[in-house]
Amino acid sequence: MKPQSLILILSASLALTSAVSAKHGDIAQPAPQAAAHQPAVEMSVDDLVAGRRAGYWMSAGLFGGMFGVMNSGGDVKGLAFSARALAGWAKALPGMFPEGSVNEETNALPTVWSEREEFERIAGLYAKRATSLADIAASGDADAFKAQWALVRETCSSCHDTFRRDRKKEVQAQN
Ligand code: HEC
Repeated sequence: MKPQSLILILSASLALTSAVSAKHGDIAQPAPQAAAHQPAVEMSVDDLVAGRRAGYWMSAGLFGGMFGVMNSGGDVKGLAFSARALAGWAKALPGMFPEGSVNEETNALPTVWSEREEFERIAGLYAKRATSLADIAASGDADAFKAQWALVRETCSSCHDTFRRDRKKEVQAQN
């Protein structure tokens, strides 16, 4: 393990329940009702950050792949599965960011913790819109799918504007 790794303890239930139950400042604490029957897990910050970043890249792959199908006039029905996967990822998102999960690799800004309610609000909106995207895909309505895809994309950028460090922009600003 790298020296800068911290050990953090997070409840296995946190990833599932923090979207609804976590409040500012208590992110790394297991929910009291869950603590009784859910064992806590130990995980290094490096492992957690690598996992959530891999998840983000996979979600971007799914989301970008939809754009290709949508713009080549493909059948959107086949995209319901991917859209449901995105919705599941969106629901798990807040739990991927327990307090203190910061290292040199992460692009998460400190606002993820200082403006936690807003972070969770946007993650919730992402989950809701991705769920609708899946329902629309299943209905086969390509125009409605395009419109809803754009709404989901808006949640990506609005969250990134406040909560994600943009290394490319930083390089441009220096030149
Ligand atoms: C609720 C906030 C939030 C939403 C919604 C969100 N992201 Fe992100 N995203 C982040 C944060 C924070 C990071 C940095 C995570 C890290 O490095 O630990 C990130 C990282 C990424 C990365 C890794 C690249 C990088 O520069 O770090 C990709 C790719 C990405 N997001 C794509 C997406 C896409 C595509 C969507 C929408 C379909 C989306 N994200 C929705 C907050 C969000």
